[in-house]
Amino acid sequence: MSGRLANKVALIIGAARGIGKGIAQRFAEEGASLVLADFEAVAGQATANEMGAGFIHTDISKMADAEAAVALTLKHHGRLDIIVQNAGIYPWQLIENTSPDDWDRVMAVNLRGTFNAARAALLPMKAQHSGRMLFTSSITGPHVTSPGHGHYSASKAGINGFIRSAALEFSGYGINVNGVEPGNILTEAIQLHRGAAFIKGMEDSIPLGRLGSPRDIANAFLFLASDDASYITGTTIVVDGGQLLPEGADFRLLPP
Ligand SMILES: NC(=O)c1ccc[n+]([C@@H]2O[C@H](COP(=O)([O-])OP(=O)(O)OC[C@H]3O[C@@H](n4cnc5c(N)ncnc54)[C@H](O)[C@@H]3O)[C@@H](O)[C@H]2O)c1
Repeated sequence: MSGRLANKVALIIGAARGIGKGIAQRFAEEGASLVLADFEAVAGQATANEMGAGFIHTDISKMADAEAAVALTLKHHGRLDIIVQNAGIYPWQLIENTSPDDWDRVMAVNLRGTFNAARAALLPMKAQHSGRMLFTSSITGPHVTSPGHGHYSASKAGINGFIRSAALEFSGYGINVNGVEPGNILTEAIQLHRGAAFIKGMEDSIPLGRLGSPRDIANAFLFLASDDASYITGTTIVVDGGQLLPEGADFRLLPP
C-alpha cells in the first residue's frame, strides 16, 4: 500500500463484483475508507466484508437510495471525498425488440443513476469545498458500438455529456468530475453473457492482444481520484488496449 488515498473517504456504487469490485480493492489498497453500494445485497455485503468496508443495499436508479448511500457514508466517516458511480446494465437487445420499458430501465440505471449519484454527493462536497465525482462510461456509445446496444450506447454517450456539464457547474466548488471509458473488460458478466467465441474474437481485435482486467480500469479511477489529477476535470480516459485505433481488420504489423 502506498497510501495515495490515505485519509480519503470513498463511496463506490455498483461494487459487488466486476469492475466496481476491482475499483474498491484498488482504493482499499491505497488506504481509502470505503462504503460500497449495490443492488445485489448478498454479493455486495460479501465484497464489503472482504475489504472491511461498509455496505448499503442500493438501487441507484432511485434518488432516495442514492441519498441514503451518501448519508450512510457521512454517518460512518463524517465526510465524502470520492464518489464512483459504476453501476450499469448492458442487456443485449436489438432496437426492434426493445420496448419503451426496456429502454427506460437502461436509462434509469445507467444515466439517471449517474445524475442521482452526482446530485446526492453535491451537498456534502460543496460544503467541504472539495470532492471527486467519477463515472464509468464506455467506449461503446461515445466512440463505437455494435448491434444490440442502442439503449446502452445512448446512455453511455449521455454520461459523457453529463460529465462535461457537471464539471462546469461544480468547478467553483472545488469538485472535479471525470469518467473512465473501458474497452472490453474480462468480468464474470462478460464471460457469462458473451461466451468464449466472443472473447477470442475480441482478443484478436485488440492491439494489446487481451481484454482488460477490472484492475486496469481501477488504476485509471485511482489516478482520477488521487491528488495527481487535481487539475483534470470534465473529461474521460479511454482504457481499451488500443481497441479504438485500427482503421480496419488488417491492423497487425506483420514481420517482414
Ligand atoms: N465489462 C466491460 O467490458 C465493460 C466495458 C465498458 C463499460 N463497462 C461498464 O462498467 C460498469 C461495470 O460493468 P461490469 O462488467 O463490471 O458489470 P457487472 O454486472 O459485473 O457489475 C455491475 C454491478 O452493478 C450492480 N448494479 C446493477 N444495477 C444496479 C442498480 N440499479 N443499483 C446499484 N447497483 C447496480 C450489479 O449488481 C453489479 O454488482 C458498467 O457501468 C458497465 O456499463 C463495462
